Amino acid sequence: MKGDSAAIALKFFLRIFEIAPAAKPMFPFLRDAGEDAPLQSHPKLKAHAVTVFVMACESATQLRKTGDVKVREATLRRLGATHVRAGVADAHFEVVKTALLDTIQGAVPEMWTLEMKAAWEEAYDQLAAAIKEEMKLAA
Ligand code: HEM
Repeated sequence: MKGDSAAIALKFFLRIFEIAPAAKPMFPFLRDAGEDAPLQSHPKLKAHAVTVFVMACESATQLRKTGDVKVREATLRRLGATHVRAGVADAHFEVVKTALLDTIQGAVPEMWTLEMKAAWEEAYDQLAAAIKEEMKLAA
């Protein structure tokens, strides 16, 4: 997926808004763009989608190499504060998880197995748990 991460990341974010259209106004750069602006042509959405997608991929790689997901302390503190400020709740993390799994399945359908799904879930859950923990401290 690495070679195509920008396109896959964008699909991932469009999938989030398909599942949960109500999440759109949480993103300031989408709010400013107005109701009818085409999402896929939004440069900030693309950049943000790639960051989130790459972090999930890095977590998966780390999990395979070390059996654990570690996020840099400074990054984690920033993520905790950003997500508290944006009003992110546990249910949102579930939406993002479903969108991520759907997107990866769509990107590599021939490789998709239950084992692969479980591995990506584990990577995402560990990353999400680290952010949620930090959100509690930042709240
Ligand atoms: C911002 C990662 C889950 C909504 C960000 C940023 C990153 C990020 C890297 C950029 C800002 C910063 O560095 O502080 C992640 C990861 C997630 C996750 C890795 C899951 C493991 C979620 C969820 C939601 C969400 C579940 C809710 C729908 C937002 C919003 C922003 C943001 C609204 C602020 C955008 C802005 O103001 O520019 N996230 N996020 N994130 N995220 Fe997440």
